[in-house]
Amino acid sequence: MTRAFADWLALREAADAAARAPDLVERVRRHLAGRPRAVIHDLGSGTGSMGRWLAPRLPGPQHWIMYDRDAGLLDRAAAGMAGITAADGAPVTVQTRRGDITRLTAADLGGAGLVTASALLDMLTAEEVERVVAACGGAGCPALMTISVTGLVELTPSDPLDADVAEAFNAHQRRTAGGRSLLGPDAPDATVEAFAGHGTTAQVRSSPWRLGPDQAALAAEWFSGWVAAACEQRPELAGPVAAYAARRLADAAAGRLGVVVDHRDLLAGCE
Ligand SMILES: C[S@@+](CC[C@H](N)C(=O)[O-])C[C@H]1O[C@@H](n2cnc3c(N)ncnc32)[C@H](O)[C@@H]1O
Repeated sequence: MTRAFADWLALREAADAAARAPDLVERVRRHLAGRPRAVIHDLGSGTGSMGRWLAPRLPGPQHWIMYDRDAGLLDRAAAGMAGITAADGAPVTVQTRRGDITRLTAADLGGAGLVTASALLDMLTAEEVERVVAACGGAGCPALMTISVTGLVELTPSDPLDADVAEAFNAHQRRTAGGRSLLGPDAPDATVEAFAGHGTTAQVRSSPWRLGPDQAALAAEWFSGWVAAACEQRPELAGPVAAYAARRLADAAAGRLGVVVDHRDLLAGCE
């Protein structure tokens, strides 16, 4: 499981990097400039793609604390930060913590220069987002939360089945499992509202993936997962979607499929 998921994260890493909003990073740069050492907590780090992307864009010495519930991913995250330095060549150190990020408190984040997350919020419930936001607010540090899905997808060329699959996929993202009702595509708005409830403004930017022929492997893998989740949610789609999916995957392999997957980045508590 860990290896398959790590492979998926590796496949999407370049697209995530290209999608994140650069002007939010510029605000974080200004916020951290001049600090002797910035402690950065990365929630749901996976294999550490946020650290690999952001650390070299920020100035000065940094200490990254990466959290995930998967120990195998954390091992990869620590290894993947080897050799990474700050924008000005200052050292970047890393430690990992295994656990549930929705149980973090303001005390856990005390002294933080920044909290980050990427592709995490849609996996949480409204209550969990509220707890994470409360912890960030209590710690008084900015939060940069990137690549949260909005549910909007555009495939080129279009097909009448696209809308049905999108609707079923988004319902799957919002499913209730194990007593948890996931936010899915509602996560960006819910998070902005949660910060507002703590008196904190969030800057929001669009950060879509725009996948063309040069990212055919990612487009095909994303599409397969999108269709599979839609059919899990609405099994009656499986029949009608079979020929559609085969056609789309052939298009992707031939570089004829364009995919836009919409996301939001948000930066809270950093003017
Ligand atoms: C889609 S992955 C994104 C990983 C990484 N941030 C990236 O952008 O490549 C989400 C990660 O969050 C972790 N995660 C989700 N919910 C979590 C929780 N409640 N506590 C700790 N980790 C969590 C998952 O194990 C997974 O590694």
